[in-house]
Order: sequence, then structure tokens, then C-alpha cells
Amino acid sequence: MHQAAILGVILVSTLCSKATQIPFFAVDSPRTAVCNSHCARSASKNDSWDLNVKPNVNATGHLVFETVSSFLQHWPNTRYRNGHNIIPGTVPVGTLLYHGRGDSNLPTVPEWTATDPEHSYMFCRGSSETGCWHLTLVTSRPLRVLYFDGSSAAKMKDGPMDTQDIVGWGEVLPDRYFEERKRVVDLCDWGKPLGIDGYVRMEMDFEIVVCDFTAGVEIVSMANLASQGRGGPGGPGRPRPSDVPAFNDSLLTNGPFETAAFFDVIHSGSRHNRYPGDRRIKLDLTQLISFYDIALVPSLVARRLNLERWDHRLLGITPADVAAVRARLTQAYTTSPPQPGSGVDWDTLFKVLVDRYDDRFEMVRYVLNNSTSHDALVTAKNAMSLFRVMLQPYILHTATPGSGSGTDNAWATPVFKFCATSHTEYIRNSPTLFSKLTPSEELLLNAVEETNREICRVVVHTWADGVAAGLDDALPVDKPIHPDGDALMGRWKADIERLMAWLDWSVWTKCRPECSFEEMCYLPTWPFMGKRGYGDGPPGRRPERPDSSSADDDEYLRPQPRCVRRLEPYTKL
Ligand SMILES: *[C@@H]1O[C@H](CO)[C@@H](O)[C@H](O)[C@H]1NC(C)=O
Ligand SMILES: *[C@@H]1O[C@H](CO)[C@@H](O)[C@H](O)[C@H]1NC(C)=O
Ligand SMILES: *[C@@H]1O[C@H](CO)[C@@H](O)[C@H](O)[C@H]1NC(C)=O
Ligand SMILES: *[C@@H]1O[C@H](CO)[C@@H](O)[C@H](O)[C@H]1NC(C)=O
Ligand SMILES: *[C@@H]1O[C@H](CO)[C@@H](O)[C@H](O)[C@H]1NC(C)=O
Repeated sequence: MHQAAILGVILVSTLCSKATQIPFFAVDSPRTAVCNSHCARSASKNDSWDLNVKPNVNATGHLVFETVSSFLQHWPNTRYRNGHNIIPGTVPVGTLLYHGRGDSNLPTVPEWTATDPEHSYMFCRGSSETGCWHLTLVTSRPLRVLYFDGSSAAKMKDGPMDTQDIVGWGEVLPDRYFEERKRVVDLCDWGKPLGIDGYVRMEMDFEIVVCDFTAGVEIVSMANLASQGRGGPGGPGRPRPSDVPAFNDSLLTNGPFETAAFFDVIHSGSRHNRYPGDRRIKLDLTQLISFYDIALVPSLVARRLNLERWDHRLLGITPADVAAVRARLTQAYTTSPPQPGSGVDWDTLFKVLVDRYDDRFEMVRYVLNNSTSHDALVTAKNAMSLFRVMLQPYILHTATPGSGSGTDNAWATPVFKFCATSHTEYIRNSPTLFSKLTPSEELLLNAVEETNREICRVVVHTWADGVAAGLDDALPVDKPIHPDGDALMGRWKADIERLMAWLDWSVWTKCRPECSFEEMCYLPTWPFMGKRGYGDGPPGRRPERPDSSSADDDEYLRPQPRCVRRLEPYTKL
């Protein structure tokens, strides 16, 4: 330990000497000292380093952080269906897209394509005599697309369509949730002057609405496939608009082929469950627009107050905020030359932070949850060693109990500050780099800062508590406060659970115990909702929803994972 401490000092002093050239960071001077006028752009930040100050209830940095960390991944966007982000992107040249249909014609109007053929095959319609039609396209140039996060192709009236309503129609129109044809035509019309070729959305798997099947795509094949004796959704000989099958319970008991086809899509979608998700779409995070951006969309702050994240929507957004969002979006596609941005790899920076903390917090929660009054102090020491590993790169040699003034844990403030700022201090405080950030990148920077800051605050607070109680062997104190083990554990457990609930990372949503090899972990996915397997079909054809107090409705609105069989998938999803 002694050697490690010496090494720590050397490293810190090396970095500090650089600070004379570049205002990188100074561990013992307040941030404002190196923060010049460019910092005024983020004047709302509260730079108090008091370990007891919790995040503002209206702050959304953690929500931006988690949604951005979840882009193009099936799992988190199935869990939280109501998207809050729209992001310009491209689909590189040479990418295959698939489209199933009941005839061999090329669509002349906007239609749906799938990134995986399991998905489009659902719409390959025809009898066992005629076979069905499956079109494979390839992008002949980079396609310009706009991605709607969340379950943005789940035709539900509870929120997944909100962001598309705003872009296509300029207001949220919940009654029109199933007007797919009108929706995609209007989106394509709106995006045409901006050169937008298509819209990326997600349901059981990812899809791209292609506005013009003769622009930027070429035909690889129009294959007459064996139809397995099934007619596709809707039944043989009953063509219906693609992507709008009449989902209902009977669909799931139609027989093995029908159900297996649906199951194949659930399966192919699940391959994009986790980071990095469906990589065929390349997003431009420098042009990201988030409805969690308080500066851009202030009207939603009051609407979200006291709501759980499941229930966040865009209802109540003011026309002024809609106009601001649409202006930003238009600008993203029309600014010429395009804003290059700073070059910071935000996607990786977010991932670095998630990787650094995700399983560590699971472990801490597990250890703290396991304590009994008999072994509370043993548990506390186990937890302390985990906290120390998390904080190791930030525990400064000079930070020892008694070294600070003010509250009991003020001595740990330099550790908190160092931990909270080390990933982003350079980006924020380098005038050259900071001046290159687009407004979207400032939002991303803020999201990393707010998220990392709260992680560091809670962990340092807890660790400092343990140090004072003499529980860190590497940092003994003269007169440890002999703790009430149970009270200490109760406090730590509550703090860590509160932090994990605030972060709400979908990487923590898992099947426990893990599913067997014959099973897969599954979240209720539109159109299979709840154990009863009902879906939000077109109005009028929709089976009655259970009343709001039933367990099924809870599962519908707040999806929880469970294991389903991968083999013989003829049981209801
Ligand atoms: C900033 O933190 C201090 C506590 O140090 C608190 O009193 C104050 O209300 C906070 N300001 C804002 C704008 O949140
Ligand atoms: C379910 O769909 C089938 C086929 O489209 C139809 O015959 C049946 O009446 C529908 N059932 C309900 C409850 O809507
Ligand atoms: C949160 O937002 C609501 C609604 O705008 C506002 O009334 C409240 O004062 C805010 N709370 C804090 C702590 O800033
Ligand atoms: C904590 O332990 C209880 C009882 O053993 C268990 O039911 C619960 O699921 C555990 N919680 C976590 C987060 O592991
Ligand atoms: C958790 O508790 C169980 C039984 O209560 C015990 O077997 C196990 O060793 C404990 N694990 C930890 C990490 O303390």
C-alpha cells in the first residue's frame, strides 16, 4: 500500500505540472479557478462539493446518460418504450435491408424494411401454392436516416409514438397512434426537403421506414420464398398493410408456424439486446436531440415532476418547445458545411463509465443485502473493500480524516472532486476543445458530469463513513467511531439502493436466477403484452385491456424480465 501511495503522489504531481500549460485539473483548487468565460454556457451547474448535497429532483443528466447508453439496443428500449431522443444517422453503403410482401412489386410509397430477415419474413405473405415474396435491398450510398429511440414502432397509445408525432405532425396526437400509413407518409414528406431517406424504429426488432425505394437503395433480389403454408399475419389471401398485423390472442394459438415466426423475430431482436446494439445504423451524437434536455425543452420539467420514468411522455410540451426541437433538427440536416463537432468519442466515454461501475454496484448491493446483525461488521468490511477498489484511482495521499474542515466528512472532498471530474475535466476546461462542442455535445458532457458526480458522491460518502468507523485497514484512524453495525449497514444499503434506482441502468435488469440454455430472458414486447398475450391492435379490434389494478396491466406498463423457452416456443409470450 505504501508503494502504491507514493506512486499516486508521483502521478498526481506529473499531471499537475502539466496544468501550467493546459488547465487540465488541479486537485486542490476549485474548478472555477480554471474555468473561464466559456463556462457561463453551463451556469446552471451547482459546483458545491458538499458530500451531503443530493441531485436536484428535476435534473435529467442521469436520464440522458442512460438513454444515450441504450441507443440501438433492444433490451433497454423494450423496458422503457417511450423514447425521448431523436438522432440523425447514416446506414453505410453495402448494408442489406429486407422487406416481405404479398406480390413481386417494388413499393412506390414509403414502406417498412427490416434489418433482420426474420422480421421481414413475417410479412412475406402467400399461400403454400404460390409462395410469398421477400425483397432484399442494398444501400448504394450512405442513407440519411433519423433514429427514434424507445419502442418507436410499437403502435401503442401510451407514449412510444410521441416523438414521431412531434416531428411529423408538430404535436402529440395520442388518438392517432395506429395511423401507421399516414404517419410514415407525413414523416417522409416532412423530411424530404432535408434529404432524409428513412426512419429507424424498433419493435420486436429494428426496422427502417424507407421513403423512396428507388433512392439510395438497389435490389439484390425479389425472391419467391416458400411460405411454409402460412399466410403471414392476417391469414392467407388477406393482404394488409405491412407492419400492421391484427395481433390478438388467436394469433398465438394459430399453430406452430405462426407462433414460431413471431418467436424468430423476438429472437433476432434479442441479438441486439445489449451494447453496442444494431450496428448497421451509425448515429451522429453531435446532433442528438433529447426531450430530456432541460434547456431545449423546459416545458416538460413540470410534467415529469413526481412521475416514475415509465410514465414520462411528451404530452404537455409547449408549441414553443416543439418549434425549438424542429428547428434544431432542421439545422442538423441543413447546416453546410456540417458542424464537425469536437471529435470526443462520447459513445465510448459513456461505455467506459458503465463498465467501470455496473457489476461493482451489483456486487455491493449483494454484499449489503446479505448482512445479518450477527455479521454486520464483517459485511461492512467486505463492502469497504469494494468501495476502496472503486475509488482507488482517486484516493489522494493527503486525504486523511482530520485533513479537512467543516462537516465530518469534509476531509474526503478532494477525493470526491477528483473522482467526479477526472473523465471530463479536460473537455470542460480546455477552451479550444470546449468551443468546438455542439449544443448536443454539451448536453452529453453535462450528462456524464451529473451521473459520474452522483456516483462519486455516494461512494465517497459511504467510504468516508467507513473510514471514520475504522473499517478501512488501509487508512486506519486514531479514534474510530465505534459504529452500530446494523445502523451503518442500513444506511449504506439505503444509499446504494437509492443510487442504483436513480441511475436505473438497464444492464441491471436481468433474469434471476439466470435462464437455462433452453430458455431466453424476455421482457414483455409489443404486441405480446402481459401473460395474457394481448396487444394494442388497431382501435376497435383491440382486446379489452385488463383493469388498471390487475397484475397483467402492471406487467404491461412496467415490463419485468422472465425466462421463456427457446425451444418449442408454442406457449404464449
Ligand atoms: C447548490 O448547493 C447548495 C448547497 O451547498 C444549496 O444550498 C443550493 O440550493 C444549491 N443551488 C442550486 C441552484 O441547486
Ligand atoms: C383475432 O384475429 C383473428 C384473425 O384475424 C379473428 O378471426 C378473430 O376474430 C380475432 N379475435 C379477436 C378476439 O379479436
Ligand atoms: C422542479 O420543477 C418544478 C416544476 O417546474 C418546480 O416547481 C420546482 O421548484 C423544481 N424543483 C427544484 C428543486 O428545482
Ligand atoms: C435481498 O435479499 C432478500 C432476502 O434474501 C431478497 O428477497 C431480495 O431479492 C434481495 N435483493 C437484492 C437486490 O438482491
Ligand atoms: C450471503 O448469505 C448466505 C446465507 O445467508 C451465505 O451462505 C453467503 O456466504 C453470504 N454471502 C456473502 C457474500 O456474504
